[in-house]
Amino acid sequence: MTNDVPLTRPDVRLEAREVFGIDSNLVVSGFAEPAEHVPEIDEAYRFNPDVTSALLAGFTHNRRVLVQGLHGTGKSTHIEQVAARLNWPCVRVNLDGQLSRLDLVGRDAVVLREGRQVTEFQEGIVPWALRRPVALVLDEYDAGRPDVMFVIQRLLERDGKFTLMDQNRVLRPHPSFRLFATANTVGLGNLNGMYHGAQRLNHAQIDRWDIVASLNHLPAPEEIEIVRSRVTSFADDAGREQVAAMVALAQLTRKGFEAGDLSTLMSPRTVITWAENVDIFGDTALAFRLSFLNKCDDAERPLVAEYFQRCFGRELDGSRALAATA
Ligand SMILES: Nc1ncnc2c1ncn2[C@@H]1O[C@H](COP(=O)(O)OP(=O)(O)O)[C@@H](O)[C@H]1O
Ligand SMILES: [Mg+2]
Repeated sequence: MTNDVPLTRPDVRLEAREVFGIDSNLVVSGFAEPAEHVPEIDEAYRFNPDVTSALLAGFTHNRRVLVQGLHGTGKSTHIEQVAARLNWPCVRVNLDGQLSRLDLVGRDAVVLREGRQVTEFQEGIVPWALRRPVALVLDEYDAGRPDVMFVIQRLLERDGKFTLMDQNRVLRPHPSFRLFATANTVGLGNLNGMYHGAQRLNHAQIDRWDIVASLNHLPAPEEIEIVRSRVTSFADDAGREQVAAMVALAQLTRKGFEAGDLSTLMSPRTVITWAENVDIFGDTALAFRLSFLNKCDDAERPLVAEYFQRCFGRELDGSRALAATA
């Protein structure tokens, strides 16, 4: 077992207004120098004031923050970009899919020591992070399997101590260890059919998070600027107009989803991908078909084509043929 744990504590105070460009008088803690695992700064990132304030409270005052919101709204990258500005090491672990309890906690492994095979405990991500000045982000928190959630539950105990049961050891968290999570739902499960695999979380589990921030769809002007910050070829006035039409279309799909007319919606991530594809193909309609339309149910495509027509004042090529077969 290694004992190379850095004793680093935050050593600078930063003004949120200056660092994040948000209207706030918060003064927050950070590190003067970047270290391993500090995410790279994305200069184009635009901080949402509410979410940023919640995350900063998490870092500065050691609050556990859960960020909830629809897919592709910037939950994971928001945490990463705040950490990047604070020079705070940050590690993301995705709880969905294949992750098991042993990946989190650790397992015995056979290793070679001086020519002999010995069994050694190889620590998992939780004990590794807990002993370091690291922000651990539990991504897709609501998709964790029951055995994984059992481990997380222990991590969330009030005093933050963590027992490695198989090892008979109790770990005390590093004073600069931080815990964040992102989730698509607030623990109600897959209510609208969009988040297959989302688990219902019990209240005790949600209750252990000190702050729940919500990051759903932003006002159109904000989303337009996010897209333009990502895809720089839309920086001029014509570009703004075009992105405004794209975001308007995305908003129609979100309304259509809410009304039950569509089973898919266009996330901000998809709008960005669409804009990138416009760059590649030089054709808004083709890029739209490839980025979104082809992900939609056949029966819903004529409606999506109609949204396109409304936002761009022209037919989405092929939409007549689609409508005819619908
Ligand atoms: N505020 C923002 N400024 C710049 N880019 C953003 C912003 N929010 C989201 N993005 C971009 O949108 C995409 C989706 O973000 P992500 O954090 O993966 O979403 P989520 O975790 O909510 O599914 C990423 O490419 C991200 O860089
Ligand atoms: Mg995410």
